[in-house]
Amino acid sequence: MKKLEFPKGFLWGVAVSSHQVEGNNFNNQWWAWEQMPGNIWHGDKSGIACNWWENAEADFDLAQKMGINALRLSLEWSRIEPHEGQFDPSAIERYREMLEGLRQRGIDPMVTLHHFTNPLWLEVKGGWENPKVIDYFRRYVRYAVESLGDLTDKWCTVNEPVVYAMQSYLSGLFPPGKHSFLKAFRVLNHMLKAHGHAYRIIHYLRSDAKVGIAKNIRPLVPEDPFNPMDVRMARFLSYLFNELGLRPAYDGWLRPPLSFRLAPYYPLADSLDFVGVNYYSPTVVKFNPLKFGQLFMEWGPPKDVELSDSGRYGPYGGVVPAGMRWAIKFASEFGKPIYVTENGVPDADDDVRPRFILTHLAQVHKAISEGYDVRGYYHWSLIDNFEWSEGWGLRFGLIELNVETQERKIRRSGEMYSEIIRENGITEEIVEKYVPEVKKDIFGT
Ligand code: BGC
Repeated sequence: MKKLEFPKGFLWGVAVSSHQVEGNNFNNQWWAWEQMPGNIWHGDKSGIACNWWENAEADFDLAQKMGINALRLSLEWSRIEPHEGQFDPSAIERYREMLEGLRQRGIDPMVTLHHFTNPLWLEVKGGWENPKVIDYFRRYVRYAVESLGDLTDKWCTVNEPVVYAMQSYLSGLFPPGKHSFLKAFRVLNHMLKAHGHAYRIIHYLRSDAKVGIAKNIRPLVPEDPFNPMDVRMARFLSYLFNELGLRPAYDGWLRPPLSFRLAPYYPLADSLDFVGVNYYSPTVVKFNPLKFGQLFMEWGPPKDVELSDSGRYGPYGGVVPAGMRWAIKFASEFGKPIYVTENGVPDADDDVRPRFILTHLAQVHKAISEGYDVRGYYHWSLIDNFEWSEGWGLRFGLIELNVETQERKIRRSGEMYSEIIRENGITEEIVEKYVPEVKKDIFGT
């Protein structure tokens, strides 16, 4: 029987973030944003979300039953430090309970310190635009790691700093809904600096910790490869999106437009123990001299590929498995181990997801067999959760959630993922059972 076997000890994980699953996070900027009409598809609100603050354990049980052995979650800063400089030990107690609960179930936790949400007190002070945020973040990180550092050895400092800066300060889809290049780069500058400090603090407190960034890596391809302007624009956008958010954490240099001129920032140098790759899909770039506000570019999903729910209803979401290997290759330039910290697809009826998982995992396997050091895969997501500006309109879960009744149902893709985990790889049998049409793509015959 043919099989794509993964290395022994490979982490088979899932990922979530605090605001998207916990519920009742009313003390952060997202909650406030959700209350303003027009910001979220269909006026959706996070509400009690997946009710994790009350009972994450119900989903930990399901994850354990599915064989999942790793879970990436984030801490909600606004719970841990609800008022400036005042920490809440009861929030830490709850996170300790959750992390212990995971470990008792044989699930290895990875903890993200910032995943898109800010306490309201910070947002009021200008959020990540305010240079003081670096000191605020240092204080919060120190407290969080002192209180929880014995329960995990894997930390992500900041989730997708470029996406946060772009969505909050360019597209305006995330709070505070601004449109300013200057501010976006200023925010990214502060986030990277904060990452550098967080790296040092975590290592000072826990010498055994492994610290990284979860970086959204996206192939940016010219619409017409023979049009030199499309090619130039795609390269430039890749520099801004892929390079700027990662390379400074490797070589310690802040480069334009992150700073006025090339400038060293010492805490940033060599501040990655691993690179977290969040891969979803590529974007096609086209030069358009009329799009002044978009740096003379237009972008969209690739043509002639399968679209996910987000590709059907929005500008992203073409299914391109080869992009996974490209993202791993890109991340490997920094010479550190790699975890795929997110990969998934919005697909409410689960007709794309089984194929998506198989073909993307096959690319991860290919990369490993070529010598790339990929240590784990965290599927986004364990369960349908609050998808930011798309609210409950995009469903990423291996488990389907009925938001009203809070009922859960493991999707077919979830069952397939369990079988892959049990086999520590993709077998011919699994492919035949779930997505026979990709057998040739996966095994070559
Ligand atoms: C984010 C998640 C989000 C996912 C799906 C990632 O960019 O880190 O929070 O839910 O994409 O859109």
